[in-house]
Amino acid sequence: MIISIGSDHAGYMLRAALRDYLQKKGHQVLDRGASSSSEPYSYVQAGRMVAKDVSEGAAEKGIAICGTGIGISISCNKRLGIRCALCLNEFMAKMARRHNDANILAMGARVVGVSLAESITDSFLSATFDGGRHKERVDDIES
Ligand code: RB5
Repeated sequence: MIISIGSDHAGYMLRAALRDYLQKKGHQVLDRGASSSSEPYSYVQAGRMVAKDVSEGAAEKGIAICGTGIGISISCNKRLGIRCALCLNEFMAKMARRHNDANILAMGARVVGVSLAESITDSFLSATFDGGRHKERVDDIES
């Protein structure tokens, strides 16, 4: 799968760890945003890049990381067609796919550690949209 992953400076280290993790699993990664954890970088810009990749089809899914995951998820969700879900655990990630057809996973690097973030990512990428009554609701978001 092609996955766009972006972060600000606060999310840089977690992004680097997840990028390696995803590549080892055979995914192709589009790496967006801050180039270090020391230079301030706007989560707004990083979110926009991931959202653009996903909404234009350059990537099938996105992962967006900032300190809390809040700012970058808000940024991603400004773009039409994007359903970005901030997830703190595997259950939220699974349900974000099953019920909300989320296409971007947001996480907070100051909230979750690397190992939990990997597990949340696995849950997000392996779950599929249930459709049915959930499709009507998801469609209604943009009507
Ligand atoms: C950066 O310090 C921090 O504000 C940002 O990463 C994020 O948590 C905002 O929502």
